[in-house]
Amino acid sequence: MSKHDTIINNHVLKNYNRYSMEFASGSGKYLYDTKGQEYLDFLSGIAVTGFGHQHIAIKTAVENQLNHIWHTSNLFEISLQETVAAGLCKFSGLDKVFFCNSGTEANEAAIKFARMRGNGRYEIIATEGSFHGRTMGALSMTGQAKVRNGFAPLLPGFVHVPFNDINAIANAVTENTCAVFLEVIQGENGIIEADKNYIKELRNICNEKNLLLIFDEVQTGIGRTGKFFSYQHYDVLPDVISFAKGIANGLPLGGVICNDKVAACIKPGCHGSTFGGNQISLASASAVLELMTPETLTDIEALGGFLMAKLHALQHPLIKAIRGKGLMVGIEIIETVEVKEIASLLLASGVVTGTAGNNTLRLLPPFIIDVFDIGIFIDKLSGILNSLCETILIKEG
Ligand SMILES: Cc1ncc(COP(=O)(O)O)c(C=O)c1O
Repeated sequence: MSKHDTIINNHVLKNYNRYSMEFASGSGKYLYDTKGQEYLDFLSGIAVTGFGHQHIAIKTAVENQLNHIWHTSNLFEISLQETVAAGLCKFSGLDKVFFCNSGTEANEAAIKFARMRGNGRYEIIATEGSFHGRTMGALSMTGQAKVRNGFAPLLPGFVHVPFNDINAIANAVTENTCAVFLEVIQGENGIIEADKNYIKELRNICNEKNLLLIFDEVQTGIGRTGKFFSYQHYDVLPDVISFAKGIANGLPLGGVICNDKVAACIKPGCHGSTFGGNQISLASASAVLELMTPETLTDIEALGGFLMAKLHALQHPLIKAIRGKGLMVGIEIIETVEVKEIASLLLASGVVTGTAGNNTLRLLPPFIIDVFDIGIFIDKLSGILNSLCETILIKEG
């Protein structure tokens, strides 16, 4: 055990299930542990470092900003906020941006904006299986008992309905409803996609009943699925979007994008953040947006398609389902094998992956991988699945 492990185990709260290892450095698509061992990163810090580690353009932008100003507070103008907000409005088709520091804070802000615009209507319809964050508002909106358990009483004003069930949404609307809030692709729940018709119908219901349609794009946004936002695979425009994770490639930044109708309800003093939209995170975000060219998005879609095709070609008996879009891919494993064991074996073989609900292996590689990296991953995964199969057969005699 290293000196570091001892320090972490003594004083850091045990609210995470961590691997007992540490990465000491990263470069591009590779991570290096404290012993110098190299790993192929197929997780990107859970959909954060989309352009890999130490990307030169992002690093240069942040280094330049470090030499000027780090933080002034939102009491003063911050022109970088305008630069990044303009980029986000262009990519989303919406009008105004609020900046904070994380996904859960972005969702808290979106909840507040929805209630503010609701003008007395306060209820938000959310979906079962969703994950929106750990703070009390976002937690109350989250549709997973395992995340919510132990924290009752949760905030009132959230109604949960089954995902992909348009009638359930229609039936849940009351005179108090102000918004429908959902992930177009549920990430933590195992990469579960919304149906095309569901999202279209949802837009119609929201128009008819004067409800805001809000998409949580915290995990799916910033190019992850091959479009800048995942709703762009569908023919709809939401009223509000929350984002975070990939926007600043590893520095803390999140936010909300809304249309002018919602923006008109937000007055000075009704919401804020000390750190939100600080110059360092924004310098990184500005570089990220410049890297997000049409070619980058096309590459993400093509690489995702290649990865999916290779996974399907495996036709492996331990794989129950393969889901996802772009470089957000879930591989559901049959119940008899714990997906955590597969992630651990992959890590031991030099590939970093994650897990999600439904016994699903979660792949969120950086956008800078190539087909050879995918080949390496597929070879390692199939080797591990084959040896697990053999073990099962031996056990069953
Ligand atoms: C869809 C979604 N919303 C919100 C969050 C919360 O983000 P954060 O951990 O930055 O608070 C996450 C985190 O995984 C997420 O996947």
